[in-house]
Amino acid sequence: MSDEAMKEKMEKLEEIITEHKDQKGSLIPVLHETQELFGYIPEEAQRIISEKLNIPMAEIFGVATFYSRFTLNPRGENTIRVCLGTACYVKNAQGVLDKLEEELKVTSGSTTQDRKFTLEATRCLGCCGLAPVMMINEDVYGKLVPEDIPKILKDY
Ligand code: FES
Repeated sequence: MSDEAMKEKMEKLEEIITEHKDQKGSLIPVLHETQELFGYIPEEAQRIISEKLNIPMAEIFGVATFYSRFTLNPRGENTIRVCLGTACYVKNAQGVLDKLEEELKVTSGSTTQDRKFTLEATRCLGCCGLAPVMMINEDVYGKLVPEDIPKILKDY
């Protein structure tokens, strides 16, 4: 994001906060609109929200991490979700996840430096017959072995 775009969004954030400031329970709607504005909730935005709503940073962090619809990191162009549900787990889903972390040089729950991929571990994706399973955006990959990973990533 350019500095100019960031500045514009920060101004918009101030407007959002002003709009909700006097409501009871204003934090959730403010976080919600912040997420829509930036695509995630940047630390700088958390700081401003904390100041203006007079809510400690720790509380904002707590709320933002509690609800899965909020994310504190910028998202990548593609989201990879690796199932760590039981059926997948017993078929070495962890090995698949480890390989992804190694190839992308990120830990699960974060986004690559080039913002190309966000890597996440998830609960059952509902296709246990294909275990171990991962999804990249809407594409499902099943019966994976760690060695499949580099080739699959190349397609994105
Ligand atoms: S446990 Fe992985 S898809 Fe169900």
